Amino acid sequence: MEPANSPSKAAMISEADITLGEVDKALVEKGKSTYDVKCQACHSIGENRVVGPGWKGMLTRRKPEWVMNMILNTEAMLSTDAEAQKQLEQCLVRMPNQNLSKDDARNVVEFMRTL
Ligand code: HEC
Repeated sequence: MEPANSPSKAAMISEADITLGEVDKALVEKGKSTYDVKCQACHSIGENRVVGPGWKGMLTRRKPEWVMNMILNTEAMLSTDAEAQKQLEQCLVRMPNQNLSKDDARNVVEFMRTL
């Protein structure tokens, strides 16, 4: 059995953890604020790469749980996920974990839905 506090596995987000309904404008606003403060230095909301990939159309190419894991379990994703590693090969910088709460990460996903 996994120890209860096993850091990476216990925290991984799965499809069942996320429900996307109508776009929730209040969450979008919160997600945008987080973007402005913690993500904007490295990510554009367009297609162009800054340090990391642009966010335009993110949810057309990534599942929401994948995005949540990239935000919350950045190290694990960069060490084990083939798609994350492809980005790393292009960007040559390891995205630092931004220490977001699960709610903050979910709000960022809601913001991404509008891009
Ligand atoms: C210091 C720069 C930096 C900051 C700050 C940063 N990122 Fe990243 N991010 C990257 C890089 C670089 C990659 C590509 C993977 C890699 O090289 O580690 C990436 C990849 C991603 C991806 C996957 C992109 C894709 O198209 O597959 C997501 C999602 C993401 N970041 C979300 C965030 C969020 C949300 C924040 C803010 C809370 C954030 N990042 C802050 C550098 C950063």
